[in-house]
Amino acid sequence: MTRDHLDVTPAPDAPPNSQTLEWHEGDMPYSQEFGDHFYCREDGRLECGHVFLGGNGLPERWRTAGTFKIGELGFGTGLNFCETWRQWKAASVDGANLHFVSFERFPMRSGDIDRALSHWPEIDAERQALCAAWPDAPSGRIDLDLADGIRLTVVCGAAFDEIPGFSAIFDAWYLDGFAPRRNPDMWSQDLMRLVFGKTGEGGTFATYAAAGFVRRNLQGAGFTVERRPGFGSKREMLCGVKSTSRVAE
Ligand SMILES: C[S@@+](CC[C@H](N)C(=O)[O-])C[C@H]1O[C@@H](n2cnc3c(N)ncnc32)[C@H](O)[C@@H]1O
Repeated sequence: MTRDHLDVTPAPDAPPNSQTLEWHEGDMPYSQEFGDHFYCREDGRLECGHVFLGGNGLPERWRTAGTFKIGELGFGTGLNFCETWRQWKAASVDGANLHFVSFERFPMRSGDIDRALSHWPEIDAERQALCAAWPDAPSGRIDLDLADGIRLTVVCGAAFDEIPGFSAIFDAWYLDGFAPRRNPDMWSQDLMRLVFGKTGEGGTFATYAAAGFVRRNLQGAGFTVERRPGFGSKREMLCGVKSTSRVAE
């Protein structure tokens, strides 16, 4: 299943070594190598709210002070980050900080991020702040303190290689690595095990993906997985929790 159900390009045999952008109608980026869009064509911002925030019980879980840590597989345009930041501001919890950490193999240029995100006036302020701070030649580990209590870290490299060395335990994960059939490496059981290992007790994940092998890999990694109605025309999505105290199924 591609992000928009237009399954016309053959799946790659091996993960590509580069990423070339095409721009489709509505300044919608599309990866030639992965044969997929970066978010759904209906409305990527609303999809983010439904799938990634809703699937992780956000913003409701932002009720307490301290640092809430979100991990993401696939930073792409930063749409998920900007929409999360917008909702975080609206929630305005005293004494709370957000650390959003994203693992991205092919970081985009600021001009491309700007072009894609300009589609949504709702996140103008977040887009401008992100693009102003984004490095000209993104590589390595990018740490940006974008506002009081808002830190963005983008770790450039393959998620499977970078996650083990990143010393944080996350409260919530956004699994957003192109359609599973297009990019099976981003949904492997080994990678899901790494994600599980970096999730705190009671921590959660959410994804628009609903493929059977993704669900099984997440369950095999240790998550309790739930199917929910997907966004727009998508029938299902997955979300789940790390609960090591549950009675064995
Ligand atoms: C669907 S897009 C993510 C969209 C993004 N979350 C947003 O808000 O725009 C998938 C992203 O995963 C990245 N990617 C693909 N394979 C990867 C890998 N093995 N490790 C890390 N990132 C990867 C791609 O470069 C792409 O940016």
